Formats: sequence, C-alpha cells, structure tokens
Amino acid sequence: MKQRALTGDRPTGPLHLGHYVGSLTNRLVLQDTHDQFVMIADVQALTDNFDNPDKVHDNVLQVAYDYLAVGIDPTKTTIFIQSMIPEIAELTIFYMNLVTINRLQRNPTVKTEIKQKGLTKKLTAGFLCYPISQAADITFIRANVVPVGEDQLPMIEQTNEIVRSFNRIYGDVLVEAKALVPKIARLPGTDGQAKMGKSLGNAIYLSDPTDVLAKKVMGMYTDPGHIRVTDPGNVEGNTVFAYLDAFDPRVDEVAALKEHYQRGGLGDVILKKRLIEVLENTIGPIRERRKQFEQDKEYVAEANSK
Ligand code: TRP
Repeated sequence: MKQRALTGDRPTGPLHLGHYVGSLTNRLVLQDTHDQFVMIADVQALTDNFDNPDKVHDNVLQVAYDYLAVGIDPTKTTIFIQSMIPEIAELTIFYMNLVTINRLQRNPTVKTEIKQKGLTKKLTAGFLCYPISQAADITFIRANVVPVGEDQLPMIEQTNEIVRSFNRIYGDVLVEAKALVPKIARLPGTDGQAKMGKSLGNAIYLSDPTDVLAKKVMGMYTDPGHIRVTDPGNVEGNTVFAYLDAFDPRVDEVAALKEHYQRGGLGDVILKKRLIEVLENTIGPIRERRKQFEQDKEYVAEANSK
C-alpha cells in the first residue's frame, strides 16, 4: 500500500511564492508516489480571523484555484475542506487532554505568530490550541508524510508527542508522521524578513499580474550597503539572490553573478530585471491556468455542489 501524505493551507488569501517553494512543489511529486490529501484549513484560518468569516469563506475557492493552477491534479490528489470533516474537531477535543498549556506556549511557531499578529494581549484559547487541531488534521487520516516548510516543524513535533501519549494510554491507534521539508524551506519576504506572509505585506502571489510582480521585485530589499554600482555587495542576506537561488535554473550563471556582485560593479537593477524574468517564467503559466479555471464556471459549480 502507498504511504499517505497530508498537508494543508489556511485560506486567508491567494497562495504565494513561499507556499510554492515550501510545499507546493513537493506535493506535485508526492501525488505520483503517495496517496495524497490536501486540505483547505478553513477552521484553522478562523483561529485568527474569527471576526472576518467572509474572508475565510471567499478564500477557500481562491486557494482551490491556486492548487489546480499549480498542477495539483484532483484525479491523483484528494482536495478537501477542513470544516466538512467534523471528526477533526471532535478528535481535537480528545487531544486537548494530552497537551499542557505550558507546552503550547513553548511552541516557537505559535510564539512568533503571536508576536507578528500582535495577539499578545488578546490571545484566544482557539489560537493557542491550533497546533492540537493540526495534530488532528494529520492523524485522522493516518498520514505518514507531511510536506511542509521549515516553520511547520514544531507542529509535526507536537503532533508526534500527542500520538505517543495517545498510544501509551489508549493502545496502538495513531501513527507518527514525518515532515518532508524541501531543500529551500523558507523564502524571505520581499522586504527581507525571514518569512513571506500575507499579513506581513511582503508576499508575491502566484496570481500576481506581470506589472505587480515587476513592481514588487523592483522594490525588493538587497544590500543596504551597496549604494553605488562599483561598491562591493553582500550576497548573504540579500533577498534578490535568495530568490535567484530558489527559482533560477541557471545555477552557474547565478554563481558568476554572485562573484561579480561581491567584487563590485554589478548593479541591483540588472539583477532585479533578471529575477523578474525568472519569476515570470514560473508564475506566468500558473497565472494563465488559473484564469482558465476561474472562467470554467461549470467546473466550479460542479465542485461546489459536491
Ligand atoms: N499551519 C499550516 C500553515 O499555516 C496549515 C495547516 C493546517 C497544515 N493543517 C495542516 C499543514 C496539516 C500541514 C498539515 O501553513
């Protein structure tokens, strides 16, 4: 029997390049080798958007378009909506007994999010506990593999702790899951922040039109010390190079550009123009396929009626 893979995304906006690098590319491989499930995590999205349910509702379809446009094939991958499986919520209740508040407060991903989203003073039980519900997402289907970006590793660790506690007390029922992290596990935001995120306002979306893409790249963070073209520049921590490493297939040319940049004499604009071209090669076909799905009202109506 094939191994099972499960992963998911919060429908809070269209998917961006961070999702693409972090887990969408792995899913395209896994759908041929694994029994794959991809979940639109609307219940989890509510944990920090409970006051804006329309946003979550509307983005369920946007995320589904992105999946199809990227090449997640519904004949190979089961795409489903979290809220349509109430057993996940039910399981979450049972898992809650197995996790201390202390442990939840130590979760590094949740800690970062609390800070970024300014939730320190109004932290809800729902948000603090979302790792427990994510453990239910992963275990209800007995997933063996979870393709995710690096920031999700603490969630898998938390899941496996719950699996071990559950099995110790109630018998050998649940299976542990392994994270599958891609080589480039984290793409910085256009502003150079460690993570790309919708709420951080530093994302390039798979659905961005060419002019928006170009504008975002032209405004990208490089090396603040690289003022004149002749100045030697830093490659480390330089967002444009991080993106070229992730998306430019001409690895040797990128290596030569890095060398030139460090020596001095290579301007940011040349690099950014190259990056626009490289990203357009990735996003262009996705954007086109997305448009086709958006216009295929029959396909969408059929999916909605199921
Ligand atoms: N927390 C994930 C994110 O923010 C989304 C998610 C929800 C998920 N449930 C999951 C990822 C289960 C992997 C497995 O991107």
